[in-house]
Order: sequence, then C-alpha cells, then structure tokens
Amino acid sequence: MLLSLFFFSLCFAGGYSDPVTCSGIVPHRQRTDTISITDFGGVGDGRTLNTKAFREAIYRIEHVRRRGGTLLFVPPGVYLTESFNLTSHMTLYLAAGAVIKATQELGNWPLIAPLPSYGRGRERPGGRYVSFIHGDGVRDVVITGENGTIDGQGDVWWNMWRQRTLQFTRPNLVEFVNSRNIIISNVIFKDSPFWNIHPVYCSNVVVRYVTILAPRDSPNTDGVDPDSSSNVCIEDSYISTGDDLVAVKSGWDEYGIAYGRPSYGITIRRITGSSPFAGIAIGSETSGGVENVLAEHINLFNMGVGIHIKTNSGRGGLIKNITMSHVYIEEARQGIKIAGDVGDHPDEKFNPNALPVVKGITITNVWGVRVLQAGLIKGLKNSPFTDVCLSEINLHGMSGPRSPPWKCSDVSGFAHQVSPWPCSQLSSQETGSCASFSRD
Ligand SMILES: *[C@@H]1O[C@H](CO)[C@@H](O)[C@H](O)[C@H]1NC(C)=O
Ligand SMILES: *[C@@H]1O[C@H](CO)[C@@H](O)[C@H](O)[C@H]1NC(C)=O
Repeated sequence: MLLSLFFFSLCFAGGYSDPVTCSGIVPHRQRTDTISITDFGGVGDGRTLNTKAFREAIYRIEHVRRRGGTLLFVPPGVYLTESFNLTSHMTLYLAAGAVIKATQELGNWPLIAPLPSYGRGRERPGGRYVSFIHGDGVRDVVITGENGTIDGQGDVWWNMWRQRTLQFTRPNLVEFVNSRNIIISNVIFKDSPFWNIHPVYCSNVVVRYVTILAPRDSPNTDGVDPDSSSNVCIEDSYISTGDDLVAVKSGWDEYGIAYGRPSYGITIRRITGSSPFAGIAIGSETSGGVENVLAEHINLFNMGVGIHIKTNSGRGGLIKNITMSHVYIEEARQGIKIAGDVGDHPDEKFNPNALPVVKGITITNVWGVRVLQAGLIKGLKNSPFTDVCLSEINLHGMSGPRSPPWKCSDVSGFAHQVSPWPCSQLSSQETGSCASFSRD
C-alpha cells in the first residue's frame, strides 16, 4: 500500500509538473567498453599531432562494435589534432585538464559540400571547411567529461576573415549533420573559428552544463545554433562570445525554402552570458520555418540585443509560437527586437516576394537595466507580424528610470504592463496575461 502510494506520487510528480531539465530527450546509455586515446599513440604534449590517434580510435569504435558502445577517454594533457569525425554509439570523454586543440596548420583542412538548405557556404560561395569535430549521420553520441576543453584556436581563422583572405566558409567547432540522440555536456568550448555548436538536420539533441568562450570581437562565434532541427534542449550553460549566444535557424532564402526543413521543439533555459550581438535569437536564416521555441530564465550582461527575432524579405518561412520569459538584461543597446529587414541573401536568385510570416510571439517577465533602447518591432508591410504579446516587461534606461520608447510598425497584438509602453499597434490590456489573450 505504502509502496504503491510512493510510486503513485512519483508518477504524479513526473506527469504533472513542467519538465524542468533536458533529461529524457536522449536515452541514457551506459558505455561498457572504454579505450584511451593513448592506446592509439595519442600524446598530450601540446605539440605532437594526434590526428592519426583520433581517427584510428574512432575507426576502431566504428568497426569493432561493443554492446552499449564505446567511451573514448582523453586524459589530462593538450592533444593537438586536425579535424576528425565522430561515429555512432560513442562517448568522447575529456578528463579534467584534457584539451583537444585544433591545429593552426590549415593546409590540409578538408572541404565538404555546402548544406543544401544554404545552397553555398554561409560566408563564401562553394563548399565549406569541415567542422573541427564533425558527425554526419550518426546517433547515440555523447561529448562529455570533467569540463575538459575543446579549443578551436580560431584566431588564425578570424584574421583570415578580417583580412578577407578566406577562400571558403570557416569551420564550426562541433557540428552534427543528419544525426539524432546527441548529448553535449560538461565541456568547455574555446575560440571556435566560426559557430561553436551546430546541430543541423538533427533531432533529440541536448546541450547542458557547457561553457562557451570566445573573445567579444571574434567574428561569427555564435554559441549554439540549432538549425533545421527538432527536440533540441539547451540548458544550464554559460556562453560569452562574439556573436549570438543561441540562434535558432532553418536555412537561407530559396535554398532553405526548397529544402523545407523547420526547426521546432527547441527549449533554451538557464543560460547566462554576454555578447555584442543577441542573447537569444531566432534567425536570421529561417526559411524552413521555426516553431515552438521556449526560452526561459535567461541572464544577459553587456549585450547588443537581449532578444532578437530576425528575418527578411526573400526568406519565406513561418516563425510561430515563440515564447520567451524570465529574461534579465543588464546593459544592452536594445532590449527586444523583432524585425523583418535583417540579414543578407545567398545570391541574386532569391525571390523578394517570398515573405516570412511571424505570428504568436509571447515575451513575458523581462527586466532590464541600463538598456539604451527598449524595443523595436518592425514587421513587413505585406506581411505584418501578428499575435505579438508582451507582458510584464520593464526596461530601464541609461540615466532615468525609463529608457526611450519603443518603435513599432506593421505589427498587431497585445501588451500588458510594459514599461516603457510599447506602441499603439499593440492593444492595451488592463488585466490578464499573454496566456489569457485570445489567439484566433
Ligand atoms: C568526415 O566526414 C566528412 C563528411 O561526412 C567526409 O567528407 C570526410 O571524408 C570524413 N573524413 C574522414 C577523415 O573520414
Ligand atoms: C563542469 O561545469 C559545469 C557547468 O559550469 C558544472 O555545473 C559542473 O559541476 C562542472 N563539473 C565538474 C566535474 O567540474
């Protein structure tokens, strides 16, 4: 009797409370087989090139299958290496003090095909350099450990970008393509050449307890960019980089529209960080659509824009059911920005009449101090943003208690307890919350 009561309360608690962590999105696997990079000749002296060791260890995991998969242990030390590919059913485990460091000899860096939803490399036409750590068509992969470091040594790449000598698009630090059941946790990501963590065409991805660091002036060092992916959960992490901390994407203009793969079921919670660009972003590449995003308990310091939903004419794509709540912003150029004129085009072949649709954006419980401009909502004339609901938002300015007013155009929706008051396009609600407003 007592026992069944106990189980009953367990189920009750599990079934009725909000899921507050990413647990359960990816099945937990206990690896029974462990190998060490040193078994394959790995040397952690910071100078020896370990490419062969990593590729052979992973070849062994791929070809000598063990029940439950294999853990590849990286002991303390600095393991310099060229890029390498992961395989299914493996854990890459970085011990405390382990550093996997990308080489700065770029002569052999492999090129791979552009993503079909982008039609070309993101920054240069043609192919793109493979990510430092890459997984294509894999499942059941874990990157974890005791907060060891994956160091992209990106400054050579940033300098090529600055000097305009890049031939192809820079590599991400970690990318998974067409993969599922991925966990990335308890790792430090440092100085990525380009975006840090890029799951694209993936499902069931968890990123938690990570630290992502890149200098404030490092170009395009986005933290985590879920791209045309579903069931992605990012939580309990510190991200401080030179570009958006988290940006949900889904392809670029005519290529993204043709590929038609949305991002949906994205949860972002308990993220702290700093950036000259956005804290939580949707876009600007959203041509496959972005739906059902929840971002909550976000703490942002010294920001460009706190919350940024960005798209453009020519993008197409439906951005729908985006909820952001409990966001604290300390020092920002802009608190909240939702705009339909952001981002560039892959080429001249985009269709300017492919207009994005933005509807069902709920932003609640935002508190900001030293915010230069509270907010900007700029819809499209021929595709106004609808069902935008703002509630319980206080954005304080630089000197006085209130920051300068919002600017809005081509938007409709509701506002409740927003200070400074957003704009006449949003109808005022004396009572209630966004949840209680009608949405039809
Ligand atoms: C790594 O994966 C990419 C993309 O799937 C592939 O083109 C490349 O040949 C692989 N590299 C190695 C060393 O296996
Ligand atoms: C690793 O870092 C995470 C996030 O900062 C922290 O929660 C965790 O306790 C650390 N783990 C270890 C083993 O140090």
